[in-house]
Amino acid sequence: MKNSILVCFCFLYVFTFGQIIPQPVKSYVPIKEFFEVEDGQLGIWTEKQFMNEAIILAEQIKIQRDFLPIIHEWNGRDNVNGIALKTNSSILGDESYHLNANKKGVQISSTTPAGILHGVFTLVQMIPLKKSKEDDSFSLDAWVIEDSPHFKHRGLLLDCGRHFMSVEKIKETLMTMALYKMNVFHWHLTEDQGWRIEIKKYPQLTNTGAFRNVNGQNYGGFYSQEQIKEIVEYANNLHIMVIPEIELPGHSVAAIAAYPYLSCTGKQIPVETEWGVFKDIYCAGSNETMQFIKDVLDEVVSLFPAPYIHIGGDEAPKVRWENCSKCQRRIKDEHLKNEAELQTWMIEEVAQHLKAKGKDIIGWDEILEGGIPSGAVIQSWRGMQGGLMAAQHNHAVVMSPTSHCYLDYGLDGIDTKKVYEFDPIPSELSADKHHLILGAEGNMWTERAPENEVTSKIFPRLIALSEVLWSYPAKRDYLEFEGRLKRSFQLLDKRKVKYGFISTPIQFHTAIENDKLWVTIQQQQKDMELFYTTTHFQSESIEAVEDIVNVRGPIPIKRNAKINLQVGMKNSGSDQVKWQTRIFANHLALGKDITLNYTPSNAYLGGGANGLVNGCLGGDNFRDGNWQAIQGKDMEMVIDLGKIESVSEISTRWFHYANAWIFRPEDVSYFVSADGNNWQLLSKDLVGQRTAAEQSGEFAVTSKVLAADKTAYDSFMCRYVKVQAHSIGKCPDWHDAPGEPSWLFIDEIVVR
Ligand code: ACM
Ligand code: ZN
Repeated sequence: MKNSILVCFCFLYVFTFGQIIPQPVKSYVPIKEFFEVEDGQLGIWTEKQFMNEAIILAEQIKIQRDFLPIIHEWNGRDNVNGIALKTNSSILGDESYHLNANKKGVQISSTTPAGILHGVFTLVQMIPLKKSKEDDSFSLDAWVIEDSPHFKHRGLLLDCGRHFMSVEKIKETLMTMALYKMNVFHWHLTEDQGWRIEIKKYPQLTNTGAFRNVNGQNYGGFYSQEQIKEIVEYANNLHIMVIPEIELPGHSVAAIAAYPYLSCTGKQIPVETEWGVFKDIYCAGSNETMQFIKDVLDEVVSLFPAPYIHIGGDEAPKVRWENCSKCQRRIKDEHLKNEAELQTWMIEEVAQHLKAKGKDIIGWDEILEGGIPSGAVIQSWRGMQGGLMAAQHNHAVVMSPTSHCYLDYGLDGIDTKKVYEFDPIPSELSADKHHLILGAEGNMWTERAPENEVTSKIFPRLIALSEVLWSYPAKRDYLEFEGRLKRSFQLLDKRKVKYGFISTPIQFHTAIENDKLWVTIQQQQKDMELFYTTTHFQSESIEAVEDIVNVRGPIPIKRNAKINLQVGMKNSGSDQVKWQTRIFANHLALGKDITLNYTPSNAYLGGGANGLVNGCLGGDNFRDGNWQAIQGKDMEMVIDLGKIESVSEISTRWFHYANAWIFRPEDVSYFVSADGNNWQLLSKDLVGQRTAAEQSGEFAVTSKVLAADKTAYDSFMCRYVKVQAHSIGKCPDWHDAPGEPSWLFIDEIVVR
């Protein structure tokens, strides 16, 4: 090899080791020297068993340097001048590797191909990108890295049910995962809105179940068994395990649309076109349905070498089972207490069937409800509690709580910093059980993420998760991480991966001064362009009073104002333009004392009590941080205006989204008082007409009382305002989850 090796004391290098993600566990500089190489001279020497990893390395160098290095089989001599991939049997741990860079080159060693590949992707992150035609050599500083993962399960769930993703998109995602040492692809393949995996024995699953009606057109797609093998092999070469998820008993409308006999009613229904949770699920009392599930799983088992099959188990309303003679007979025959136990019975049947084929099951935390199926791995999503309980009962756990791991949530709820702060080990779990926490997954549900938007939701947040899971940094310095992340974006740009923003590009800061609301717009990242307009309006009907363009504020809010922003990234090949809208209201109760007689849900705090009198209204996403909620209970709030005021109007806004179990209140009562003891009821408002519209759609409804409507005067004189809202309590009979506790969502109490 004619490698040009220089001991170089100049500082030619552009990239250093200090920008690797995930951060290596141990690294040090043994000596100040450099590996300096001309692109054309760079060779890879590999042991035969690491040929696959050598090919991946060569392809990655081609991307970085626009030059494809030659691969040689390692000749047994040490000190090759280039990159060597070789066995070191003294390295413990399946995924561990050592990387040693010195003036002679780079040696990556491990006992396994997976370990070698992790070393390869560390090296890839160190190799500088070619800057120009003339840039034809690079230099790496000497370094020793000894690295291994903290958690062995480092995953991404990709929902291909709500939106179909092409084979190319999946491969691109897998490659980007591998760049950051993620090693589990949880492939969500069956949903109410689409069945995506070809099953030879049941062709209607894909003929019928893979397509839904969207505005009169068939929308969907599926993966043939050949395509599935192709993806599994592609992932396997990247040492990513593919875990298929075949949902049962719920989220199975598409299967039932294909074969109606699978449900309790046997009725023909269409592939679902709305998002939510639906009551038509597999009939657990039917032997034919159980046989169908086993047949499907037999084909699934033959396609996926992973030791796990994910069987879902979440969000399965039991109303059909309660009214099905076959399900009730099964409960009796199997001496079960209720429908929750029937679900456990069904999952046990499936688990045993799979066990006989050498597979363990993973299920969402709902499968704990009728008793934990034996040997099941629990994936905790409704917080960490399910995972904690499972680990305490010696079950293995994958964490993906909605608080930190839901990549479908907006950046206003979960930004990169929030993910970076995630600790998969619950603080209450005793140290002897920590090993049961296998790791975590980022969950990419795709109701609102078609293929062209999905990577910008996954990245960069999944990159933060990769460091949490691999390095498990004890002390997290987010700003230091963010610095590495921004440098890492060059790698994504080079690979044309469309990543998204690190955090909400804009933050609105509000201040209450002189009883007025002022809004300031703060840009989170320097390298952005902002375009925006502010529209002031008098009422909900948005009659523009004036438009202000691109004034950063503070903007005084006169009465109601809507600020509309368009944000774009400069200098980025990435797809980073988006709109953000916020509505503000100026009113008498801003910043005043408020007492709640309830505890808002941790998941929807909406700024706590003060959030109801902060002038920031909720948007059309109930997770935007401005909506406050409780489940199954009523609300009562008391505001102290500080002195007797003349009040002409009190109004509240409520979110309604039946599919998410969110209902406008049954009624809202408004009271006023001068002393906080003697209350006068002004109005009991029924919050609009209850119509069929209630059953679909997502919207906010306003409830209001006007002094002019209730008295001979235009205002009430009062110091205290009380609002009581009655929840409908339980989801109604027509609903897909009748009897389940419904949610009540409010954003603001406006007093004028
Ligand atoms: C889930 O988000 N339903 C697991
Ligand atoms: Zn049934």
